[in-house]
Amino acid sequence: MPENDRMEPIFADDAAIEHAANLLRKGRLVAFPTETVYGLGADAFNPDAVRRIFQAKGRPADHPLIVHIPSIDSLNDWALTVPDAAQQLAERFWPGPLALILNKRPEVPLEVTGGQNTVGLRMPDHPVALRLLQAFDGGVAAPSANRFCRISPTQAAHVAEELGDAVDLILDGGACQVGVESTIIDLSGDRPRLLRPGHITRSEIEAVLQAELTIITPQVTPSELRAPGMMAVHYAPVTMALLCPTDHLQRMVQELILHNKRISILALNATDSVLAEKRIIRVIRMPGQADDYAQALYASLRELDSLHLDMILVEQPPDTEAWRTVNDRLGKATSAYLPK
Ligand code: TXA
Ligand code: MG
Repeated sequence: MPENDRMEPIFADDAAIEHAANLLRKGRLVAFPTETVYGLGADAFNPDAVRRIFQAKGRPADHPLIVHIPSIDSLNDWALTVPDAAQQLAERFWPGPLALILNKRPEVPLEVTGGQNTVGLRMPDHPVALRLLQAFDGGVAAPSANRFCRISPTQAAHVAEELGDAVDLILDGGACQVGVESTIIDLSGDRPRLLRPGHITRSEIEAVLQAELTIITPQVTPSELRAPGMMAVHYAPVTMALLCPTDHLQRMVQELILHNKRISILALNATDSVLAEKRIIRVIRMPGQADDYAQALYASLRELDSLHLDMILVEQPPDTEAWRTVNDRLGKATSAYLPK
């Protein structure tokens, strides 16, 4: 593609949003901001438009998409039934970073659901996303607006870099406030299951449901893995990234530098003396609070990745509940754990 065919983001004012809704009606692709990450949207009832999403991302067709809806009431347009648990969670957390998997109505295209009889639904908490959904007056199927297995975009410029030649419009609504993908709860079976951790925590969900969530992890039920977000390598930078416990960071840095490796560090608690090593090419010090860290994570990884160094060393956060979502995404972004 010639340079001038690359789509640049446009400020999401009323006219731009109206234009975006018209493009969606014509089966075109619109990237838009949500509170979690930017989405690559298409009319969820238009199978051709949905197929274009998979082409643009390079994503296998059997990976289901989340349908973004403008209200809790519109759950009924997509879900065969709305169980009490779904109604309660939607009332408590929507609009917000929570996706619900429910049994689908027969008219929901199989292109959206990856051939499954369940559908993922979410009402996002971002003024631009909500205005777009209201203007379009329907469901917008949207995965994160990145190429398959790459880092999710949290700014409009990230979308332009990665998918600028494949989208018809990029709405710029600023940097995403949550910064990591939504919590996914599967309510299509007998028991509620957590498919992907996110900003809304397991205990917040369990408090509303008054029930324990079954936690689905790759180790537990590999045959049941339907979410690409649960594959071992996902959201990954091109540069090799390694998780390193704080205690081992200094030794690891010395060893890598001794071997002439050009490295950067995503630091958390490391002391200034460790990070002061002059041959480290770039250090990003991350926020000490997990939600703030999550908000900054993907943009920081992108920045370090763009330096094309030999390695990104990621200082391992604490193994506590507060850091669950960050640790989940870091586990997917890094290729291996360093030996203790
Ligand atoms: O925060 C988010 O959820 C963002 C923004 C754009 O809303 N979207 C997002 O979409 O992360 P995507 O496609 O990158 O991830 C959606 C996840 C995938 O792991 C997919 O497998 C899962 O949701 N999913 C969607 N429908 C499903 C279904 N019917 N059954 C199981 N998993 C489903
Ligand atoms: Mg994604």
